[in-house]
Parts: sequence; structure tokens; C-alpha cells
Amino acid sequence: MNIAFFSTQKYELPFFEQSTRDHRDIKITYFEQALSEQTAILANGFDAICIFVNDTVNATVIEQLASQGINTILLRCAGFNNVDLPAAKAHNLKVLRVPAYSPEAVAEHCIALMLTLSRKTHKAYNRVREDNFDLNGLLGFNLHNKTVGIVGCGKIGLALCNILNGFGANVLVCDPYAQPGNYTITDIDTLLSQSDVISLHCPLTEQTHHLINDEAFSKMKTGVMLINTSRGALLNSKACISALKTKKLGYLGLDVYEQESELFFKNHSDEINQDDIFSRLVSFKNVLVTGHQGFFTQEALTEIANTTLLNALEVNEGRPLTNEVL
Ligand code: NAI
Repeated sequence: MNIAFFSTQKYELPFFEQSTRDHRDIKITYFEQALSEQTAILANGFDAICIFVNDTVNATVIEQLASQGINTILLRCAGFNNVDLPAAKAHNLKVLRVPAYSPEAVAEHCIALMLTLSRKTHKAYNRVREDNFDLNGLLGFNLHNKTVGIVGCGKIGLALCNILNGFGANVLVCDPYAQPGNYTITDIDTLLSQSDVISLHCPLTEQTHHLINDEAFSKMKTGVMLINTSRGALLNSKACISALKTKKLGYLGLDVYEQESELFFKNHSDEINQDDIFSRLVSFKNVLVTGHQGFFTQEALTEIANTTLLNALEVNEGRPLTNEVL
């Protein structure tokens, strides 16, 4: 199987080279470019493409890929909202993903965002380097006894619940498929109105697009902390800016952003940022943004490479597909 690998990052190469070392029937060609209508031509002559979160796989791209002989889309991530599944099905393209590479990696990153925002360690780090040991402005709050609402209690949401139980937080969960556990299952409105901290872990779908909008903010406690490590478009960014200005939103931690495909995973430090909404968001002192690094641990990258290889081998050898996206 010849695989065209899009959006290649230097940090991925050792993990994929290690996983494919003993599999001569799998050959990967690495392209730095993201997959789009303009770059789909690069996949000409390959059997499969391997893509990440910000590659574009709309109906036009799929039609082009199918006409070039591609029969398989290997996602090296869990979310698949960037793939037009009906179009893939119509062209008989198999779509496989890595459903769980390390839920704990993302859950632990959520905790990093929560604690940095609440305890202001990013400010403390800079102050101490300047020999400034003044504590004014660094006052935090305990997670112990706080109510933390988790929207979407799948693999990552559940891993987060387990950590938060260790903190002694009261955990509320909203998920149509929630199973009983060490948390209280509730509806979205109750979760929004009772939580001190809200963390989003549901997938991006038509139903969850802009789940957090002006109306949702109106139901929340004043000074609430909001964490989004799931997908950017779960939040209406303009509504976040309004809520930050009125102090309804007290803290915002983002690892994803609605327009992140233009920004994330690349160094733009020599350019002028043209995204006024992003620039406004990062200008708030109580907003912390990381560039989609929730998954970025050694354990997760090893799992991504190994599962992607398994997916490729199963297609190549005509075996039942463990991780097909239906
Ligand atoms: P999962 O599929 O195990 O869990 C998602 C849960 O959301 C399911 O239990 C589902 O029932 C629930 N859900 C669906 N619609 C809902 C709604 N309207 N309201 C409440 N709950 C709803 O997925 P997993 O592995 O936990 O990942 C969650 C999301 O995290 C992914 O969709 C992906 O977008 C994101 N992600 C982000 C990463 C990062 O690096 N920041 C890495 C991996 C995933």
C-alpha cells in the first residue's frame, strides 16, 4: 500500500518510521502540505491518504481523490468532522481513524489549562524570573468542592471525571449516552447554570456547532471557567469575546479554535496575524490558548502511529476493519 501522508510534522516522523520499520508492504511518502482542493493532485498514483485534523476532505477533494485511484482515507486522529462521509461512501472510499490514542493525554492537558488559569502559574513564572515575588493579582481558587460540568462523557470526558474526582470536585455530566459513574448525570441547562468550570468533550456535529453561544452564556454563573479541548466550532468565538468583556466568562482555556486551520501547527511569528477575533481573544489576560497540543505526548504519538499502521494493514490484507468510521 502506497500512502500519501499530508500535513507532515517533523515530530511525527520517528514514530511512523518506527511503526512501519518491519512492514515493507506499507510505503509512506511524506508531504508537508495540507490536503486541499489545490494539493489533492499530490495523491495521484497512491492507494491511500493519511491526514490530520486540519486537512480538507470535502466532496470535491473526495471526487478528485477517487478519480486518482485513492481507495482509503487514514485519519491519524479521533475526530472526523473534516471528512465528508456521505461523499466518501458514494465513491467507495474506506475511512478509518484512531479512535483513542490517549484520552488521558487530553484530559491531563485540560487540567493543565484549568490549573494555569486558576492559579496563574504563567504569570508567576514570569514574575519570579524578574525577582518580583508580589502575590497581588495571583489569587486563585481550589478545584476541591467546586462543581465541574463535563459536556460529552466519552473516553476523554471520562478520563477527566476520574482525575477531577481525585481533586474532590463535584462532577456533573451531560451526554445522551452517559453511563452511571462517579458523577451526576444531568441536562445541559442544569450543567450550564450550576457549574463553576465547564469543559467540552463532545464531537463537533450539526447539533453541537456553536453549542456555547450568547444564550448558553446567559445561563452560566458569573465568572465561570470554560475549557475547550474538543473542536473550535463548539464555541461561538464572538460570543466568548462579549462574555469576557462583561466578565460573565471569568476564564477561558482553549486548545482548539474555530479558524485554527489557518494558524495552528505552523510558526507564523514573522507575520502579522490577520485574524482579528483570535487576536482579540489572546489579548485578554484571563484567556489561555494552546495550539491543539492536547494529544501531544509520547504515549499518544506512539499509539497514533501503531493504530494507523494497523488500519493500513487491515485494509491491505482484506481483514475486518477495527476502526472504520461508519
Ligand atoms: P468519544 O466519542 O469517546 O466521546 C464523545 C462523547 O460525546 C460521546 O459519549 C457522545 O455520546 C457525546 N456526545 C455527542 N453529542 C453530544 C451532545 N450533543 N451533548 C453531550 N454529549 C454528546 O470521543 P473522545 O475520544 O472522548 O473525544 C472527544 C472529542 O475530543 C473528539 O470529538 C475530538 O474532537 C476531541 N479531541 C481533541 C484532541 C486534542 O488534541 N485537543 C485529541 C483527541 C480528540
